[in-house]
Formats: sequence, structure tokens, C-alpha cells
Amino acid sequence: LCAVSSPDSTTPVGEWDANFFSPAKINLFLRILGKRPDGFHDLASLFQTVGFGDKLFFRKLPESAVADTFNCNMEGVPTDGSNLVLRALDLFRKRTSSQQFYEVYLSKRIPPEAGLGGGSANAATALFAANKLAGHPASLEDLQLWSAELGSDITFFLSTGTCYCTGRGEVLHPQEPLPQTRVWLVKPNKGLSTPVVFRHLDYDQLSRIEPAGLLKQFIEEGLAEADYVNDLELPAFKAMPSLQTMKEELQTLGFEHVLMSGSGSTIFCIGSPTHGSSWTKEFAEKWGAMVVDTHFINRPVEDNAWYAEA
Ligand code: C5P
Repeated sequence: LCAVSSPDSTTPVGEWDANFFSPAKINLFLRILGKRPDGFHDLASLFQTVGFGDKLFFRKLPESAVADTFNCNMEGVPTDGSNLVLRALDLFRKRTSSQQFYEVYLSKRIPPEAGLGGGSANAATALFAANKLAGHPASLEDLQLWSAELGSDITFFLSTGTCYCTGRGEVLHPQEPLPQTRVWLVKPNKGLSTPVVFRHLDYDQLSRIEPAGLLKQFIEEGLAEADYVNDLELPAFKAMPSLQTMKEELQTLGFEHVLMSGSGSTIFCIGSPTHGSSWTKEFAEKWGAMVVDTHFINRPVEDNAWYAEA
């Protein structure tokens, strides 16, 4: 992994009981199927974890503690009860009748409002960590079931990292790991809020490509030949017209595939650019962009193994 330009990741001082790598994801395709009565959208998407991510550090607090404490290196990350990490720890205690509280440090590199699932990844990591530190009172399936209460993308991060997801994103159809493909993540200085992007969605402009056919392309025919579609690109471009310009500029660099991830604003690029890596500095300066050169990673299948830092 080589982070060409990204926020500093800091390691907190002192002894910690455990630390976990919390990877970002991209959506290799994302189809919106329709709006549901509960206000969410039914979707069909191939999710893949990548070797770029955050780190979460845990230290058990003494029995007398009545709340978790939380610190983070990135400004703007909420440190109150609205934080998904703290909500995940609360949920774990509720479901397992555990009384254990933690000091948590989040060393964050995944930017918010990026379509990379940063907050969701952290919540999944917190569930996994709490379970491990408590001696595994819950199964991975329990954690997956509980995780959907916290958000649509969290369940995916409790998979092995290549997963076709349906429902509102929480129904997992695990796939064999894809080849360890190189991918560039380009996130402009502005982010995009998921609900705002969904509000710009025009149902007459959905791609209508059959998701089962898309999945077959990626799994059976390979990444090079597949169709890269994301139904949230058009609404994201409406919400942030400059993002379309940035995507078009990336497309001129000779990558095989260029697509927005999730609800944006990260655009990912697969395949090598024709003119080497000189474009990264230019993009970082022109768009205030974070440019990350990384690759697909997967969690080992063995029980209770978490993602290793790439
Ligand atoms: O579940 P999560 O907190 O990730 O969703 C954030 C917002 O994104 C929801 O409040 C909703 O507006 C939108 N969303 C949706 N359909 C989905 C997932 C998210 O409409 N399948």
C-alpha cells in the first residue's frame, strides 16, 4: 500500500489489549432496484474490501467504568453516543449482557462521505473486537444479524470481503475472493452525503442491467471484461457536477475501468494509467484530492480471524 496523499494515521501511545485493521470497501457494481415502503432502497451490489483503512485500538476499562471513552485522530468525527463504534459496543453489551466498557482509539484514514464505508467498517470492527475480547460469546452469524440494526453496510464488513449484497445492503451472498487487483481511490476534497444522493435519484434513469448478469460477469468472466455500473453516479453528479468532470479526467488517463464507489464521492480506477503515476500529484493539487494506490484484500475464512493490515 502506498498512500500518496492522505490524512496522517497516528498510533496512540501506551499498551492496548488489542488493535484491528478496519478496511475500506468499494462497490464494483451497484444497482438500485427500487424504493421500499420503509424509505430505504432495494439494491444489488458487489462489494470488495481494499487494503486501505483505519485502525481501532481497544483497552478494557476497570469494572467500575460505566461508559466507553473514545478518541480519534481525525477532526470532525463525532466522539459522542452518535458514533457508530460506541453504538456497536452498546449493542454488543445489550445482546450479550456483557458489562465490559472500553477505552477506544480510532486511527482514521478513510474520509467520511466518501462511499468507502468507513463508519460502517469501524462499527463492524467494534462488534468483532468486543466479541473477541469477551471470549467469543457470540457467533459471527449473531454479529451479522445484530449489525443490520446499526446501518445497511455494516453486515458486509463481517463477511470475508468479496460479497454480493442485496436487500438494503445487509443480505450477504458471499463470493470466492477475486484476484488481488490493484485499485486507485481518488476522493476529491468535497464529500457526498448518502441521503442527499438518494434524494437526487431519478427512477427513470436507472441502468436496468440485470444484476445477476453483472455478478456473473465479475465472478465468471473476470474484472477486465465486466460492465462497471453504479446507479448512484448520475444522482451524485447532479448533487456535485464537478465530480463528473473529475471522472471524465480520470477516464482520459488510460485506466481500464473508472467508477464512483457507493454514493461517492470517491472514484476508483482499475488497470494501470498509460502515463505512469505522475497524474497523482496533479490530481491531489487540482482537486484537493486524496489519491490512494491499493489493492483488493480479503479476510481469512478461519473463525475469529479479522482483516490483517495490508
Ligand atoms: O443504513 P445507512 O445508515 O447506511 O443509510 C444511510 C441513508 O442512506 C439512509 O437513511 C437512506 O436515506 C439511504 N439508503 C437507502 N437505501 C439503502 C441504503 C441507504 O435509501 N439501501
